[in-house]
Parts: sequence; structure tokens; C-alpha cells
Amino acid sequence: MSNSSEASLYERLGGYDAIAAITDEFRDRLMNDPKIGYYWAADSLDTKRRDRQLTVDFLCEAAGGPTFYTGRNMQTSHVGLGITDSEYDLLMEHCIGTLEKLEVAEAEKADVCAFINSLRDEIIEKQ
Ligand code: HEM
Repeated sequence: MSNSSEASLYERLGGYDAIAAITDEFRDRLMNDPKIGYYWAADSLDTKRRDRQLTVDFLCEAAGGPTFYTGRNMQTSHVGLGITDSEYDLLMEHCIGTLEKLEVAEAEKADVCAFINSLRDEIIEKQ
């Protein structure tokens, strides 16, 4: 049983469909940004679908939802790509833009951004 003060971030965001919509908007913005979109430019449609589903599962699980993330950890998934700190700053801008477009409330927006930013050190390799 839970009341609103105990609700998980998953519940506060609106559950699976809401997090899937956040993931899709976020990925669209990243892939369409010429400064960063080249990382995914050669991905097949199937790779895109797989990575999208893994990201939904990862975010839902991290937010306290019932999904089980079966992908690789964040460091293993990104090591070798050479992602920079400033590219990660750009990703954070797209994260904020996504949450604003989808009208996610301030408290949840802050929690999602803090979580995404907490992955930075596992993902970046260069300043
Ligand atoms: C600027 C930052 C980022 C870039 C350029 C980037 C790019 C990529 C690329 C190119 C791959 C495919 C790697 C491969 O299989 O060879 C990948 C995998 C993945 N990324 Fe990112 N990523 C970034 C940040 C993030 C963040 C913040 C998350 C979490 C929300 C994330 C979640 C994932 C997941 C779940 C996978 C799939 C893991 C697997 O295949 O097991 N990425 N990313």
C-alpha cells in the first residue's frame, strides 16, 4: 500500500506509458541534434528499437517500476564511444527540453534530471 508521500518516481511520472513517451521524445531530440546525433546515425531500425526498449526498461526500473533491465551497465554500453563532458551537457539540455515539452511537474523534472546527471561519470570518457 502506498499513499502519495510514498509514491515511487515511476508512479509520480505516470507509469510505463509516460516513461516510454519521455524516452521517445528524448531519443528523437538527441538523434536529430547534429552535434550529437551522429552517434546513432548508422544504427539499423532494429538496433534503434532494441536500444529504445532497453532505455525504457532501464528508466522504469531506476524509477522504482516493475520492469527488469536486461541490458549492459552504463559504463560497458558506452566505453569506447569517447563521449565528452560537453556532449553530456547537451544531453542534459535535451533532457530538460523533453520534460518541459511533456509538461512533467517541477519535482519530478528535478528527480529525473538528477538521475540522468548521476550517470555522467559512468558514461563520459573525456572532458
Ligand atoms: C551523450 C550521451 C550518450 C550517447 C552519445 C549515447 C550513445 C549510445 C550508443 C551509440 C549506444 C549503442 C552502443 C553499442 O551498442 O555499441 C548506446 C547504448 C545505450 N545507451 Fe546510451 N548514450 C548516451 C547516454 C545515455 C544515457 C544518459 C542513458 C540512460 C538513460 C543511455 C542508455 C543506453 C542504453 C540502455 C543502451 C543500450 C545498452 C545495451 O545495449 O545493453 N545512454 N548509447
